Formats: sequence, C-alpha cells, structure tokens
Amino acid sequence: MKRVLVTGASGMLGSQLLLDAPAGCTTIGTDLRPDAPVTVPGVDLADPLAVSGLFDSHGPFDAVLHCAAWTAVDLAEEKVAEARRANATACAVLAAECARRGTRLVAVSTDFVFDGTASTPYTVNAPTNPVSVYGLTKLEGEQAILSLHGANSAIARTQWLYGPRGRHFPGTMLQLAKDKKQLKVVHDQVGSPTSTLELSPALWDLARSTECGVFHAACEGQASWFEFACETFHLAGVQGLEVTPCTTADFPRPARRPAYSTLDCSRLTKLRGKPLQHWRDALATYLKETN
Ligand SMILES: NC(=O)c1ccc[n+]([C@@H]2O[C@H](COP(=O)([O-])OP(=O)(O)OC[C@H]3O[C@@H](n4cnc5c(N)ncnc54)[C@H](OP(=O)(O)O)[C@@H]3O)[C@@H](O)[C@H]2O)c1
Repeated sequence: MKRVLVTGASGMLGSQLLLDAPAGCTTIGTDLRPDAPVTVPGVDLADPLAVSGLFDSHGPFDAVLHCAAWTAVDLAEEKVAEARRANATACAVLAAECARRGTRLVAVSTDFVFDGTASTPYTVNAPTNPVSVYGLTKLEGEQAILSLHGANSAIARTQWLYGPRGRHFPGTMLQLAKDKKQLKVVHDQVGSPTSTLELSPALWDLARSTECGVFHAACEGQASWFEFACETFHLAGVQGLEVTPCTTADFPRPARRPAYSTLDCSRLTKLRGKPLQHWRDALATYLKETN
C-alpha cells in the first residue's frame, strides 16, 4: 500500500492509525473541523462533491480507513439528523466513491449495533438490533457500505475504545481519582475494553487484506466498567479511593447501552494469526506508555 486516506484523522483512533502507517505508505488524514491538524481539514464526508474533490486532488488511494463518525452517544438521541449524516450518509458517500474508483474501504463500526441481550460473545453473523440512535445510524452506515461496495470493503466492529489521544473511560477515571475519595462505577454492563494501540495494527492488516464483510475487533477477555475502573486504578497505583459497584439504573442516561456486548473476534484472529492482546495486558501497556 502506497497511499491511504484516513478519515476522522484527528480523532482518538484516526490519530493512532496515522502513527502506525506501514513504512513507505503515505497517509492523507482528513477531518471535519476546518482547524483540525490533518492534511486535509474541513471535509464533510456526507457531501459527495467534497469527497470526490478530495479523491481528485489527493488520490488515488489504495485504501480508505474510515474512522470519522458522530460518537456522542447520548447527544445523538436528540440530534438524530446530524448523527445519521455522519454515521450513515458519510458511509454511503464514501462507499460509492470507493466503488467508482476501485478503492478498498475499511470502516469502523460498533458493538452498539447489538441490543445486549446475549449471554455469549456476539459472532459476526449474530442478528443486529440497535437500542440507540447512535447504534442504529452506525448500522445504517454498515448496510450502505455492504450494499454499495460489498465486493471490496470490510467493516470492523469494535468497542470500549481508549488510547493515547482523545477522551475515554480510563482517562476520566484517573482524572476523577485526583479529587474524589469515593466513586461508584457501573457493574451491570459487560464488554471488552480495547486499546487503540492494539486495534490500529489490526485495521492496517484489514486494509492490506482482500477479505470482505464484517469483522469483530476487540481486545481479548471481558469486564464490567467497574472491573475496568478497578484495574485502571490498580495499575496506575491509585491509593485511598473507595470504588463501589452500582447499576445502570443508578446513572440514567439518554441513550440505552447494551448490557452485554462482548464480541467474538475469531474471524479477525484467523485472518491475522493472532488475537488482539487481553484487555488487562493492553491496559498495562497503555498506562506504561502514557504515564
Ligand atoms: N470511542 C469508542 O469507544 C468507540 C467504540 C466503538 C466504535 N467506535 C467507532 O470508532 C471510530 C473512531 O472513534 P473515535 O472514538 O476515534 O472517534 P472521535 O475521536 O470522536 O473522532 C471522530 C472524528 O470524526 C469527525 N467527523 C464527524 N462527522 C464527520 C463528517 N460528517 N465528516 C468528516 N468527519 C466527521 C469528528 O469531527 P468533530 O470532532 O469535529 O465532530 C471527529 O474528529 C468511529 O467510527 C466510532 O463510531 C468508537
């Protein structure tokens, strides 16, 4: 791969993808904000003219790694049109452009396409049933890509992301630990905390591959938010903080979350010959590298 477009390039995941580009590969990063620190800022991917202009002036691309999205899960419940524009329309526009130009497309999606009523890990073929606007619009994006460019695209569903840049759960927990003596953390939602340091190389492998369709991409093992918080505090050496488990009902939020959303990542493991690290090991690596 010589030239790859990364969307959402100033975001938590996109910025890591730029850092992990293989030797000899030129990355073109794009993002929505006009002042985003990327190669081509100010591009709204839901605008077909803007997207074809981007391909004309900076392509041809061997692949597109599509991370841009409306990721404000609660706000999406009221800003439905805006969330749909970023999560569904942008996927359709990109997929049509990639199909026209013969460009491989790898798009990042989410465990929120599931309703969370399962009790064993969701396989790539498990029935979807989103329970939030965010999940629904991300699913619409997946469907647009598979119908417009299914012959040369891959969807990578991931979950519970954190990494060196952006706002995320371990960062918030460590911030709270600075001035709190007691903390309650939700214990009845289970998933797999996933480091962008682990996910990014897997997405590059998907970009290089010719395999198509849906993949699940998350760190090994599973945890509740409470367990994730406790491990973060333990590994970061936080002392004098009382952490207690609570329920989702104790913290009502506008958007419903899946109660159980562990992903079966065996298809990706087979493709790469190895799984992503266990979440506890990945968290230890992340904390060591960032502190
Ligand atoms: N974070 C998680 O826990 C998580 C979990 C599962 C899946 N995912 C998926 O992983 C991907 C990366 O997530 P992330 O956390 O890295 O996201 P992020 O940090 O919020 O970055 C997403 C970027 O996309 C940009 N964007 C939004 N609408 C756009 C549009 N119409 N055109 C162009 N760019 C647009 C945003 O710009 P603005 O900031 O200006 O809006 C933002 O810079 C997303 O597809 C997300 O759905 C994330």
